[in-house]
Amino acid sequence: MRILGIETSCDETAVCVIEAEGNFNADFSFRVLGNSLLSQASIHAQYGGVFPNLAKREHAKNLVPILEKALNESEMLHQGQTKAPAEIGGMLSREPELSARIGEYFAKYGKPKIDCIAVTVGPGLEPALWVGINFARALSKAWSVPIVAVNHMEGHVIMPLVRHDDSEQKTANRKQEMQKFKFPLLSLLISGGHTELVLSREWRKYEILGETRDDAVGEAFDKVARLLGLPYPGGPEISRLALEARSSKLEANFNLPRPMLNDDNLDFSFAGLKTAVRRIVEKNPPSQDEKLKIAREFEDAVAEVLVGKTMRAVAERGARTVIVGGGVSANTYIRLRLAEALEKEGSGATLLVPPPELATDNALMIALAGYFHALKSDYADSATMRANGNLRLG
Ligand code: KG4
Ligand code: ZN
Repeated sequence: MRILGIETSCDETAVCVIEAEGNFNADFSFRVLGNSLLSQASIHAQYGGVFPNLAKREHAKNLVPILEKALNESEMLHQGQTKAPAEIGGMLSREPELSARIGEYFAKYGKPKIDCIAVTVGPGLEPALWVGINFARALSKAWSVPIVAVNHMEGHVIMPLVRHDDSEQKTANRKQEMQKFKFPLLSLLISGGHTELVLSREWRKYEILGETRDDAVGEAFDKVARLLGLPYPGGPEISRLALEARSSKLEANFNLPRPMLNDDNLDFSFAGLKTAVRRIVEKNPPSQDEKLKIAREFEDAVAEVLVGKTMRAVAERGARTVIVGGGVSANTYIRLRLAEALEKEGSGATLLVPPPELATDNALMIALAGYFHALKSDYADSATMRANGNLRLG
């Protein structure tokens, strides 16, 4: 089955085409035929975070070129013509720029050999999600293929479950499989909008064990970065400074709080940590060395809380596999600390992480998650599907 995945929930415009077969965790395999992604991060950097209407405009401008690139890579961009039914105008009435671009696309190219379109419907920024959904609807109508509605967080869960063989030469089109792993599966989902511990006793069944009561961990990284005068997205910047502090043996002479670490639950809170950094920075504008020390202490505090809560969940629920997903899972220090803790405490649980380049938002994860819905003919009704900024797993 060939799936075209579309992701526009935040500031990445992404389209991916995969060819997949088999069942989950058994004989599943897939090939990436084409993958194209455009990050808007540098555009949003001036606002210190993602600006929803700007994200929407950029997605509308870039979706068609990104689709063309992904299909071209898949060798499925055939000259020809697609008859575009009249309803498409109505579907895209709120996206005039996308409407014009898709009209030009249909006038130039024929239908690719796609069996299904998978699109993110939430969680995320609703104006941004809607562009992707309306784009998927228009393609579905013109190509007469069904749509699958994908939860973005399920995409982040699936990414670490795919076997990523670094030793193998990364040839385009190579066959990839799933890791062999055991349930219960504990997912630590850490991104710009989420911080959650989720338990799955079987595939696609989710129980949220704990979540943040205020800021998400990625949001805390981004806000602290801003306080230190670092550009958006702040996660990689803080991490870079923290690494420099560790290798230069620079250590803060203060401790930041470890919020909720010892509370008898699996919830998180990161707003206080950011406020603590704000107080320090406002009292005394930090020198470059002090910035390094703050970044290190902040990353230590975050890692300690995430690891502590994850270990508690592993013990309480007897997890056999732990995955870390979402943009913050690109953080090598957090990965390392979690791997150490799982090893040291002899939990017997295996840790799986995505390769850093696939930790942040992409359309491959949406195509993969979409495939398992399509396998069960779990299709969405194009006429009634909606964006849901607060969509939850479960
Ligand atoms: O999953 P993602 O790409 O988008 C959302 O769905 O939110 O996550 C983006 C978040 C941003 O807050 C970014 O600062 C953070 O992931 N991030 C990191 C790192 N790389 C990205 N945070 C810490 N360390 C990193 N290396
Ligand atoms: Zn994400």
